[in-house]
Amino acid sequence: MFTLLFTTASAEVYEGTGYGYHQDGIVLDVEIKDNKIVDIQIKKEQESDFAKPAIREIIKRAIATQSYEVDGVSGASLTSEGTKEAIEEAVKASGAKLTKVEAALNKKTKLSRQADVVVIGGGGAGLTSAIAAYEKGASVILIEKTELLGGNTNYATAGLNAAGTSVQKKLGVEDSAELFYEDTMKGGKNRNNKALVKVLTGKSSAIVDWLLERGADLNELTSTGGQSAKRTHRPTGGSAVGPNIITALSNVAEKDKIDIRKGTKAIALVKNNNKISGVKVKEANGEEYIIKAKAVIVATGGFGANAKMVEKYNPKLKGFGSTNDPAIVGDGIVMIEKIGGALVDMDQIQTHPTVLHKKTNMITEAVRGEGAILVNKDGKRFIDELETRDVVSKAILDQKGKSAFLIFDEEIRTKLKAADGYVKKGYAVEGTLEEIAAKIGTDAKTLEATLNKYNEAVKNKADNEFKKKTLPKELTGTKYYAIEVSPAVHHTMGGVRINTNAEVLGKNGRPIKGLYAAGEVTGGIHGANRIGGNAVTDITVFGKIAGENAATYSKSVK
Ligand code: FUM
Repeated sequence: MFTLLFTTASAEVYEGTGYGYHQDGIVLDVEIKDNKIVDIQIKKEQESDFAKPAIREIIKRAIATQSYEVDGVSGASLTSEGTKEAIEEAVKASGAKLTKVEAALNKKTKLSRQADVVVIGGGGAGLTSAIAAYEKGASVILIEKTELLGGNTNYATAGLNAAGTSVQKKLGVEDSAELFYEDTMKGGKNRNNKALVKVLTGKSSAIVDWLLERGADLNELTSTGGQSAKRTHRPTGGSAVGPNIITALSNVAEKDKIDIRKGTKAIALVKNNNKISGVKVKEANGEEYIIKAKAVIVATGGFGANAKMVEKYNPKLKGFGSTNDPAIVGDGIVMIEKIGGALVDMDQIQTHPTVLHKKTNMITEAVRGEGAILVNKDGKRFIDELETRDVVSKAILDQKGKSAFLIFDEEIRTKLKAADGYVKKGYAVEGTLEEIAAKIGTDAKTLEATLNKYNEAVKNKADNEFKKKTLPKELTGTKYYAIEVSPAVHHTMGGVRINTNAEVLGKNGRPIKGLYAAGEVTGGIHGANRIGGNAVTDITVFGKIAGENAATYSKSVK
């Protein structure tokens, strides 16, 4: 169905609909004048937060090339197709004969090949460091190998852990950087680099304010496993934290006119006279060249989507699925290792316990943080649901069929936008307790007894069975949901060795001049197990440190 919506003095606006990820479609208003697309406005869409930029990117390409036959945005193929479909429908309805502008998007060769600071990777760590370096007065080029900013941060859901924050104070939560430090060390089995954890926890409160000032919404609190205070900061309504931060930081970077080059891949670090002097890059058209830089920040993420590398460093994880963005394959680690950087804790790889069974979609820990329980195929609880990820993952793998069911009620679904999203995407079975028991193939009476016993524990503030320390709420009402889950590779705790200045260290323990790293590409901070919500703290705290220090260093280089 298409519609001519209205005619202005000189142009006509046509509506077009295409189908992306969400069944309600992407509806666009396409303005046509003299056989040309003049403008395209998004009228309605409900694509996932991280795919939304793909709609804008396709619109930009369609206007630039005067064609709906443009390349899709990698990582958002369904959304890209839906957007192209909507433009095509509107253009066909208008009867316009478009003249394709060849090579309209191929302008990269004219771009500068020199900057004070080059940032590799456009996820949370990369964007944070690019903005921090720019705010310190450096000229910055950020390169991102995919065509979408966000990387793994686009998948971060639960929140950002921080202690002693303005948000906690407003909500009456008592907490301290010291307590956060202790929880992080304990969660990491004391294998963590203490100095890095001191920085992570000590600067966590300031990073929340820094992000709030730049438009992120971190105004609600929840809990994740292994924490002794409510310190997981998330957007209002419980929507996913990662896309929220990426949107805010992308807007800042755009406003600051930071030179962001999507589709440009770093292939090597350039080192001269023992210091970094640039990055060799490759464009999508195969062209290779060097961008000279006084400092380089590597923020390429870990290697969770590189099954071969996961198996190499931890053979026990052979065959496991991964929650990671397919682009997270360890390329920064490989590049740094090649120029003499030291690696640490490479065998320490975390599985997330609640991933859609036999799939790769993570079910956020925040569902358990809000009060969901885990039951096995016999309808019985088997673990403190808010234990650390290693413990919960192991407990699930010990159950029959190596999977479990997350059970939550209507109140949790309504309160937590992410949970509502899972239901809408069809991940859950739903109904009365009796109905869901039948759907998951367990005995209804046992499941009911499990819930009653759990609710008693919440009432009495004492879980005698599994010693659960945080008991958020009773599970009540007439409508329940169950999602079958099992563990998958989620976070690689190992990576390149850095110091508290985010400088990359060589095998001799000394900083490699001009080389900085931040985020999951680095190792040592999380020890043997990362606490849920600490990754977003890591990428932003150390992203800011890397950006500021790289900018300062660049000023000292001739
Ligand atoms: O469960 C989650 O939402 C994941 C959070 C994290 O890995 O920090």
